[in-house]
Amino acid sequence: MTGAEGRRGGPDLSVTIAGVKLRNPVIAASGTFGYGGEYRGLLDIAGLGGICTKGLTLHPRPGNAGVRLHETPSGLMNSIGLENPGVAGFIEGELPRLRRLGPAVIVNLAGADMAEYAAAAALLDGTEIDMIELNISCPNVKAGGMAFGLDPAAAGAVTAAARKAAAHKPLMVKLSPNAPDLAAVARACVNAGADALSLVNTFKALAIDVIRRRPVFDRESAGLSGPAIRPIALRMVWDIWAAQQSWAAGPGGPPGGPVPIVGMGGIAAAGDALEFLMAGAAAVQVGSATFARPPAMNEIIAGIGRYMKENGLSALGELTAAARYPR
Ligand SMILES: Cc1cc2nc3c(=O)[nH]c(=O)nc-3n(C[C@H](O)[C@H](O)[C@H](O)COP(=O)(O)O)c2cc1C
Repeated sequence: MTGAEGRRGGPDLSVTIAGVKLRNPVIAASGTFGYGGEYRGLLDIAGLGGICTKGLTLHPRPGNAGVRLHETPSGLMNSIGLENPGVAGFIEGELPRLRRLGPAVIVNLAGADMAEYAAAAALLDGTEIDMIELNISCPNVKAGGMAFGLDPAAAGAVTAAARKAAAHKPLMVKLSPNAPDLAAVARACVNAGADALSLVNTFKALAIDVIRRRPVFDRESAGLSGPAIRPIALRMVWDIWAAQQSWAAGPGGPPGGPVPIVGMGGIAAAGDALEFLMAGAAAVQVGSATFARPPAMNEIIAGIGRYMKENGLSALGELTAAARYPR
């Protein structure tokens, strides 16, 4: 369903996240869509709601050595290690092309320490990007990455630093499912100025090569994604949505109140995306499914539109958290 179809009287799939209007709620997940152009000709890129870039860091990174991808039943393990051209390289080389593709441009930003996050965020503040997705959840790097996403105080501090450095850009913080207390991390991020939350990044996991009698990945553990994680990711979206309602009702809640949730983890079909929306997500991201079937996101968008039509829904907001308020 495109914006034009919406104007012709079909259901309106558009959604506004932190002031950024998406034509529909389906966003390409970071690290699975490059900088957009890599997929030219394989799907209708302009029909997507948004594109999250591969995780960028202040300085270019070569990524990890050894095996980087390993398939598991219903899942995919990766240990890419944030290979990227650096923020300045992205702004010069990739951003103009990415901007022309049409969907909202969301930059996934990672860093080894707080100063790096802040310096990179400051560089992005003056650019044409629509939103920053602060990646405090990458499990595949030695320094920074997921370490910030496991501890509420560290998550709040890095969110506050990025908020200050990129004062003009909407800020979404991407949470790690590996956090011992995910709701506490979410609360710290919203308190520190996050305009939206995205969840989840990959689950820390392990595979062993029984021939070599060694872990498959050089860094031993790697991040698990794909349908194998979907029911757990869905439960996390459900929990964080509920936690936000209780903070809003109670004393000392985050000043911004509930912020929109962008849900992800194993979404491969329209029915999966509908589950995340009904659990409380305002939009979704799709990652591993695109590797298996590049047009998966287009099919998911069309399927959401069909569901809305068949069920007499005119606006996407009627689906958000619908499983909480069944009609
Ligand atoms: C190969 C690969 C690379 C990824 N790189 C990043 C990254 O750079 N930054 C990030 O925040 N998430 C990264 N992710 C995580 C995805 O964006 C997403 O959170 C996760 O894969 C769950 O969604 P899925 O099950 O639909 O793939 C990566 C995932 C994969 C499979």
